Amino acid sequence: MKTTAIAHANIALVKYWGKRDAALNLPATGSISLTLKELFTKTTVEFSDDPAQDELTLNGERANPKDEQRAGKFLNLIRAQAGTGQFARITSENNFPTGAGLASSASGFAALALAAAHAAGLNLSPARLSELARRGSGSAARSIFGGFVEMKPGVLPDGSDAVAVQLHDETFWPLEMLILITSAAEKEIGSTTGMNRSAETSPYYPAWVASSVADLEAMRDAISRKDFQQLGEIAEFSCFKMHGLALSARPAILYWNSLTVELIHAVRGLRQKGIPAYVTIDAGPQIKVICLPEYSEQIRAALEQISGIRQIIKTSPGPGARLVED
Ligand code: PMV
Repeated sequence: MKTTAIAHANIALVKYWGKRDAALNLPATGSISLTLKELFTKTTVEFSDDPAQDELTLNGERANPKDEQRAGKFLNLIRAQAGTGQFARITSENNFPTGAGLASSASGFAALALAAAHAAGLNLSPARLSELARRGSGSAARSIFGGFVEMKPGVLPDGSDAVAVQLHDETFWPLEMLILITSAAEKEIGSTTGMNRSAETSPYYPAWVASSVADLEAMRDAISRKDFQQLGEIAEFSCFKMHGLALSARPAILYWNSLTVELIHAVRGLRQKGIPAYVTIDAGPQIKVICLPEYSEQIRAALEQISGIRQIIKTSPGPGARLVED
């Protein structure tokens, strides 16, 4: 059967950075994210007898062998559950730049999990889909759901409780995020390498893990009370701790470029003028500005003055992964 699914990217407000089990891809901490309407991956999967291996076409071109193998390894999990030996043709399109810290693996593996499970005849609950998507990429577990989503680290060794849950759907609080693209280059250090190196070499890693519990609690509370200042402060705290952790690894990991730093200062400057805006940054140099809809045009106009920004994408809360017609 041929199946197509769409899944949206998500940006973490409380970050995941570090694994408690590498083979099962179990996170060491929980995380909380917002699923984004404007950024998505659309993926079609068809299992059949003719391909001699899994074939992945990404944004119109045959994917490189490394990405194709990663997708094939992921499909092995589905083949094992469905009891099939057939290979698949996968066609996947992102409507945003791939691999530059814009969470393409989150929407990518969430869409692949849903499309491939359905194409293989599996009827999985959202929790089991989230568990499956996690095996592809930790953040993908969250993209199964829309709106505000919490990833649970779980305690079971098999990882069946390391799944995401929805806190509030996409209509709950119409926040916005401005994504400022400062570079279109592929990141040099992927998130898995970056987080493993941080866990193995940074003296700050135990403190990062221990302090995440309070951040998750404060973020849940901020979201449920729609307290924008608390949400922004905790989001920046988690983001800067994650980047501080990466910087304290050996050798140090620095995801930012000079424009990233300039934009952090600019957002702080806006706050000093009374404009509520906070930044978050993932494993790349892009800045995401968290804002309220009534301020987003003013914030965009101010930040647009800074030279070097390649693109600004305005995003808002979006839905969970879903099947669509081809
Ligand atoms: O899911 P991965 O392996 O792409 O890691 C995601 C890491 C961050 O984006 C930096 C943080 C997060 O929680 O999304």
